[in-house]
Amino acid sequence: MVPVAWEDYFWPPMESRAAIWIDFLPTGDLELASMELFDLGAMGLEELDNGALRAWLPLLWDRSQIPLEWKICGEGEVEAKDWDLSWRLQQEPLRVTDRLVVVPPWVENPQDAEICLRMEAKQAFGTGGHESTRLAAKILEVLPLDGKTVFDIGAGTGILGFYAKILGASQIDLCDIDPDAIPCLEENAALNSIQDWKAWAGSIEALGSDVRYDVVLANMLRTEFFPMRDQVLALMPVGGLLVLSGYLARERELVMEWFASAGLELAAEAAEGDWWAGAGRRIK
Ligand SMILES: C[S@@+](CC[C@H](N)C(=O)[O-])C[C@H]1O[C@@H](n2cnc3c(N)ncnc32)[C@H](O)[C@@H]1O
Repeated sequence: MVPVAWEDYFWPPMESRAAIWIDFLPTGDLELASMELFDLGAMGLEELDNGALRAWLPLLWDRSQIPLEWKICGEGEVEAKDWDLSWRLQQEPLRVTDRLVVVPPWVENPQDAEICLRMEAKQAFGTGGHESTRLAAKILEVLPLDGKTVFDIGAGTGILGFYAKILGASQIDLCDIDPDAIPCLEENAALNSIQDWKAWAGSIEALGSDVRYDVVLANMLRTEFFPMRDQVLALMPVGGLLVLSGYLARERELVMEWFASAGLELAAEAAEGDWWAGAGRRIK
């Protein structure tokens, strides 16, 4: 695939590329807080010496999303021009798994990459830098996806759903409650010549009661996924697969308990650092 010259690559007006930074002192686990911040639209995070998390956020970021119990200990703004340039310069091909590399649209495909996905983060989560995405991508590689219908809940940039399509899925449906994800999905689908896909802003409630998928992907926090787990189960026929990521290793047992009570058997699992991902097959 030919890279797009970065000067020619479509960008929103400069003003909308400006960023703010906010230093948070989150309560509880820093790993979970960082995932939550990415979920809430952070474009980058840095752990500071004082234990705070500096989040780089879009200029017009909705501050009402900040969890009430988190303290703010600093904030500022980055000039649009500086942010835009440093953001682009930072972006390089990123190896997600042994097989998959994510490549910014204006960069050549690395010669040693077996599969390249062209995408840029913009404001949606998912360029493969986070362990939860890497683990889910690894799991996709060992699942039988050929000719399967796949549903990616919380798709972000579409990295997992589009990877499933490249690995052989016949149809990929994607959704995200973040409306910013939709233009990003459209752009990434075009950049990667993805066919047979559809996406909507919203979640599982948009689906009719007769809809079924062979494979469901959900890389999101347990607190986000568990409330909808019964609805997800209803989408899966016996034999259907559910890929869960975004779990701390210590949460594995909670997932195993739910698998056992819901009639799912563990089909694959992977772990990296503090993070865990697993796939369940519906057996009854
Ligand atoms: C951790 S990100 C994962 C993004 C991408 N799938 C990846 O693997 O890198 C989780 C995404 O789930 C979305 N999300 C959270 N709760 C959701 C829900 N109930 N329904 C749909 N999307 C949701 C967030 O907006 C966010 O984009």
